[in-house]
Amino acid sequence: MDINFFFLFVVGELLLLSSMIFLLPVVCGCPERCRCHSPSNFVDCSRQGLAEVPSDLPPQTLTLHLQDNQIRQLPASAFKSVPQLTTLNLYNNSLSNLTSGVFHGLQHLRVLNLTQNSLHSLESRLFHSLPQLRELDLSSNNISHLPTSLGEPWENLTVFAIHQNQLQQLDRALLESMPRVRHLFLKDNLWKCTCHLLSLKLWLETFIYKGQ
Ligand SMILES: *[C@@H]1O[C@H](CO)[C@@H](O)[C@H](O)[C@H]1NC(C)=O
Ligand SMILES: *[C@@H]1O[C@H](CO)[C@@H](O)[C@H](O)[C@H]1NC(C)=O
Ligand SMILES: *[C@@H]1O[C@H](CO)[C@@H](O)[C@H](O)[C@H]1NC(C)=O
Ligand SMILES: *[C@@H]1O[C@H](CO)[C@@H](O)[C@H](O)[C@H]1NC(C)=O
Ligand SMILES: *[C@@H]1O[C@H](CO)[C@@H](O)[C@H](O)[C@H]1NC(C)=O
Repeated sequence: MDINFFFLFVVGELLLLSSMIFLLPVVCGCPERCRCHSPSNFVDCSRQGLAEVPSDLPPQTLTLHLQDNQIRQLPASAFKSVPQLTTLNLYNNSLSNLTSGVFHGLQHLRVLNLTQNSLHSLESRLFHSLPQLRELDLSSNNISHLPTSLGEPWENLTVFAIHQNQLQQLDRALLESMPRVRHLFLKDNLWKCTCHLLSLKLWLETFIYKGQ
């Protein structure tokens, strides 16, 4: 081989290699400010000063960490591209409301963490269509009212946290929609001791009696 030709060949290979390295993040499809761990399909976008959910999430994502950002709003399509999600962490953001339908289609979601946002109310049936949900954390928000129906009967929900909110009452029917609940966090609300609360009290007595 001619030495000049060999030199060009090596340079050409190097150029090809560097363009491949350059293209790699695009090919793997990890959003710019996130870290993606492909074997576990874990995408970590926490603490990145994000104002919105990245639009180019890998479709096979199972666990999505978005905590410690400044997300104020979730468009209805926020999670449409990641239908396999099992864990979604939105802890410590600036959400003040949630668009109805935002969680629709997350058939496999097991853990939804919305603690430490600024939510003040939730729409009825907001979590409808999350049949697999096991843990729902709504603590440390400003919620003053919860609708009677948030989801369909939650066969598998075991953890329901709404401590540190502004609730004055809670409809017993809501708790009855989660027959398997084992850990219920209710403290630090503005509970009003009226007749409304009586049926909740009776429900809780049975709950405690059953050792939960
Ligand atoms: C909440 O997130 C912000 C960044 O957006 C961070 O500075 C702050 O320490 C976090 N708060 C807690 C309690 O983790
Ligand atoms: C929801 O919150 C965002 C951000 O604070 C606000 O711009 C929007 O108007 C709110 N939407 C509703 C329906 O309250
Ligand atoms: C949440 O409620 C607290 C106590 O009532 C209030 O000081 C705070 O301004 C509220 N925050 C938002 C974002 O509404
Ligand atoms: C509840 O969990 C069991 C066991 O993982 C599963 O087979 C079942 O489909 C779940 N129920 C619903 C409504 O998804
Ligand atoms: C939600 O996240 C907070 C902060 O990391 C944590 O303390 C809490 O246990 C989580 N809730 C659930 C149900 O995993």
